[in-house]
Amino acid sequence: MTDKINELLRRVEEFKPKAAAEIEEFRIRILGKKGELTALMEEFKTVAPELKRELGQQLNRLKNEATSRINALREELQNAASDASATSGDLTRPGTAEELGSRHPISLVKNRIVEVFERLGYTVADGPEIEDDWHVFSALNFPPEHPARDMQDTFFVEKDPDILLRTHTSSIQVRTMERQKPPIRVICPGRVFRNEAISYRAHCIFHQIEGLYIDEGVSFADMKQSLLYFAKEIFGEQTAIRMRPSYFPFTEPSAEVDVSCNLCGGKGCAVCKGTGWLEIMGCGMVDPNVLKANNIDPEKYSGFAFGMGIERIAMLLYGVKDLRLYFENDVRFLHQFDKAL
Ligand code: PHE
Repeated sequence: MTDKINELLRRVEEFKPKAAAEIEEFRIRILGKKGELTALMEEFKTVAPELKRELGQQLNRLKNEATSRINALREELQNAASDASATSGDLTRPGTAEELGSRHPISLVKNRIVEVFERLGYTVADGPEIEDDWHVFSALNFPPEHPARDMQDTFFVEKDPDILLRTHTSSIQVRTMERQKPPIRVICPGRVFRNEAISYRAHCIFHQIEGLYIDEGVSFADMKQSLLYFAKEIFGEQTAIRMRPSYFPFTEPSAEVDVSCNLCGGKGCAVCKGTGWLEIMGCGMVDPNVLKANNIDPEKYSGFAFGMGIERIAMLLYGVKDLRLYFENDVRFLHQFDKAL
């Protein structure tokens, strides 16, 4: 009987299964109700009493060995299976494509406008989005009771002293005048904030480009020619501009600039509301009060300033009718500009 036990022990030790099913088969053959070990247990009942102690121990050892070997083999096979799926998998599978982003339409249009003014000798200036009252209003000749200073129009971060989100990038022009003596020729692109109800044509956040040109003998005619050049570069050679008198605290005289409608060629359509003209920016000769407030001698120097909304220009260029689309960042919308400009 000892021989049979040893023989079985050897088979248990040498057993090398390739699949889980083989292990189960082996277990039944050895430990099952009709298995070999069970048969040995039956035989054990008949052995002489003086051999019982020795053989009983051997049988117990065999049973323990077989059970733990089977459990260990099962675990080994399971680990191997999960390792394999983690490291190799199907190597012929196509890889995951990297999605390429594209420039946002507002950036595209901003870059194009910046390029046009760079050709005219302007450089780009930058400034903070959170500003104080001086740079957004006071230095720009806003009277204390001006409605733009009202909570209704401006987002305040703090009151007394007033800290606010800039409502226009004219604040960068003030910062430029603080730093630099004329001649000054800067454009100031940036994000601005106004407390407006969000609709298809207005948003509480939008982007502006403003420009400032100060030197000796700068005239209204210089401004008009610069802005005509700009309009032709952006909307096409056939574009005409017209100027309508307007009012801004920081410029005098001031004007509103319209371009001829590039959709109907000036005949009148839904976009230009039948007028043939589209309003694109405000402009004017820098008010002497602004020059004085910024320590520039208005007797010696003069200048002009202009400002436009980038969303508005982008809407006209791309025929986008709802301004909110620029802020939702829906990739289906944004991908349409992949190849633009
Ligand atoms: N700052 C004005 C605005 O935000 C635009 C402007 C700039 C008008 C310069 C005239 C001159 O509406």
